[in-house]
Amino acid sequence: MTQVIRTAAELQEKVAGWKRSGILVGVVPTMGALHDGHLSLARAARAQSDRVIVTIFVNPKQFNNPEDLTKYPRTEAQDLALLEAEGVDVLFAPQPEEVYPEGFATTVSVAGVSEMLEGAKRPGHFDGVATVVSKLFGMTQAGRAFFGEKDWQQVQVVQRLVRDLNIPIKIIPCPTIREADGLAMSSRNVRLTAQDRSRAPALPNAMQHAAQSIRSGVPIAQALEEATAMIVAAGFGEVEYLELRDAETLREVSDLSRPVRLLAAAWLGDVRLIDNIDV
Ligand code: PAF
Repeated sequence: MTQVIRTAAELQEKVAGWKRSGILVGVVPTMGALHDGHLSLARAARAQSDRVIVTIFVNPKQFNNPEDLTKYPRTEAQDLALLEAEGVDVLFAPQPEEVYPEGFATTVSVAGVSEMLEGAKRPGHFDGVATVVSKLFGMTQAGRAFFGEKDWQQVQVVQRLVRDLNIPIKIIPCPTIREADGLAMSSRNVRLTAQDRSRAPALPNAMQHAAQSIRSGVPIAQALEEATAMIVAAGFGEVEYLELRDAETLREVSDLSRPVRLLAAAWLGDVRLIDNIDV
């Protein structure tokens, strides 16, 4: 039975009891509208911790676009049923006033890795993520936190944050879960029209094509240009970025001498899709 907790005080009391008995707590931070990607994180947490907390909080501070916040799907009853089936111990689902009470005045900002790609396109987004994640780590007192690699840059930001602030939590990145046609699972996919849904796999396909070209020696700029043209030809609107970056710092790279990652953001109708793959 998954216990639903809505206040930090109740959660902290519960976790303090567990920790007195030496129990290792794993947390999966989410914004709800759970899909198989989230459930794979809950399963990883279940396998690698004694107790699992899943948090659901649609964090207003990380939405730079108010319409995106309003349209973000909210499906708590359905989410709870899914978490019950996964044997999750606690669903922590606070209201915004619980997370950001009157007088809340702190922003956590991670320089460098937050500034490019998603950070440049969505000003303030990673400050919102870093602030809420710091709060959720403090409130849950978890020893392990599980994040999907679908949000690759977010994982690098959170890793930097816990290293810089000596937060005693181990970050466990987990692989992106994809639909059968290759589209990365995302809570935003439900907003795609049927026609756009059928076009959507062009993004991961073009990325795979670019990765293969780069690996086989095609100049990086040429491979990225060809892949961008494939995405546009498939019916996408603006390709905000399609870039090969250092996998950890996300700085620009000109060769494959360090681990690199191919990252993309592109619009399909009024839905913004992001994806990333290894090269
Ligand atoms: O990845 C998400 O769903 C969110 O950015 C997170 C980590 C739950 C913070 O609100």
